[in-house]
Amino acid sequence: MDSEPVNVREFQTLAKEALPKMHYDYYAGGAEDEHTLKENVEAFQRITFRPRILIDVSNINMETTILGYKISAPVMVAPTGFHMYAHPEGEVATARAAAACNTIMVLSFGSSCTIEEVASSCEAVRFYQLYVYKQRYVSAQLLARAESNGFKAVVLTADTPKLGRREADIRNKLTIPQSKNLEGLLSVEADSKGGSDFGAFASQTLDPSLNWKDIAWLKSMTKLPILLKGVLTAEDVEVGVDAIIVSNHGARQLDYAPASISVLEEVVQAVAGAVPVLFDGGVRRGTDVFKALALGAQAVMIGRPVIYGLAAKGEYGVKRVLEMLKDELELTMSLNGCCTIKHITRNHVRTEGDKLR
Ligand code: FNR
Repeated sequence: MDSEPVNVREFQTLAKEALPKMHYDYYAGGAEDEHTLKENVEAFQRITFRPRILIDVSNINMETTILGYKISAPVMVAPTGFHMYAHPEGEVATARAAAACNTIMVLSFGSSCTIEEVASSCEAVRFYQLYVYKQRYVSAQLLARAESNGFKAVVLTADTPKLGRREADIRNKLTIPQSKNLEGLLSVEADSKGGSDFGAFASQTLDPSLNWKDIAWLKSMTKLPILLKGVLTAEDVEVGVDAIIVSNHGARQLDYAPASISVLEEVVQAVAGAVPVLFDGGVRRGTDVFKALALGAQAVMIGRPVIYGLAAKGEYGVKRVLEMLKDELELTMSLNGCCTIKHITRNHVRTEGDKLR
């Protein structure tokens, strides 16, 4: 393939060529039968547009505001682990690319660069993603470090009381490096007998007793806004947080969970405007971004495409991925007759559940 991709999917092909199989599989894979993995992408393909014509679209403005921070377009970087498997500069390169595109990066607990390295890489608004560990002081210390290093919000990932069964990682006997962020905080004995060391790490460290009461515990520890990541049902809409992220963890946790886009509207209706709703899972096109916004998301987050950009072309690759999605969103807005993000409405899309008019 020509080495300059023309769309985000082509970065995946380059990443596959560039990476050792074990690492590519870690990034690309999902849980068990990977049903949800396919659905995350395919459910977008079943949504079509109701474009409007004869609207002056000579000036398109994609800017939006997330928790008070202005970003150039509603496309953010999702938290994903171990960027140094993809590129030696790891999350520092990703952070610089996100900053250059004037968007927000969420740094994963599993960052291969330290919180401090990412914080000092460049000026930008960043959020920190937290898991709750059995040893609560570990989460408390990570949070305190993120806060003192200028991170502006905490993303609590709530869909991982246990790690999903990612069979490619088990087959490949994936081993993960000791996280620099956890040095001196957590030491774990890896058990790689027939299983993934990552699985062993997760089962030894993650706290499966985490529950709704712990939101109050988290609030008592930080003044930062809290975004709850992993909501997939109206029943789990909790307005005691500052934002909700509709996500199935990129289909890496519960297989046969619904495609994220198929439940976005249910969650948005339950939230009823009380807090912003963000979205991730399967976004590969500017048209996907538009569809998620039309169904009520304030912004989307991108997981794998960012890593594929990083693996293929480092910081430049991540920048290109974000720029491509922004350019495609701009065109989609023009062709649907929307000049600003606020002009994108539910009436611009038709889902399978909608009656044909
Ligand atoms: C993830 N995701 C994730 N989520 C999280 O809260 N903490 C984490 O450390 C990780 N790590 C991680 C690693 C890798 C390799 C992937 C692919 C994903 C999930 C991520 O934040 C996001 O929900 C999905 O990646 C979104 O789906 P797409 O964009 O990858 O389809």
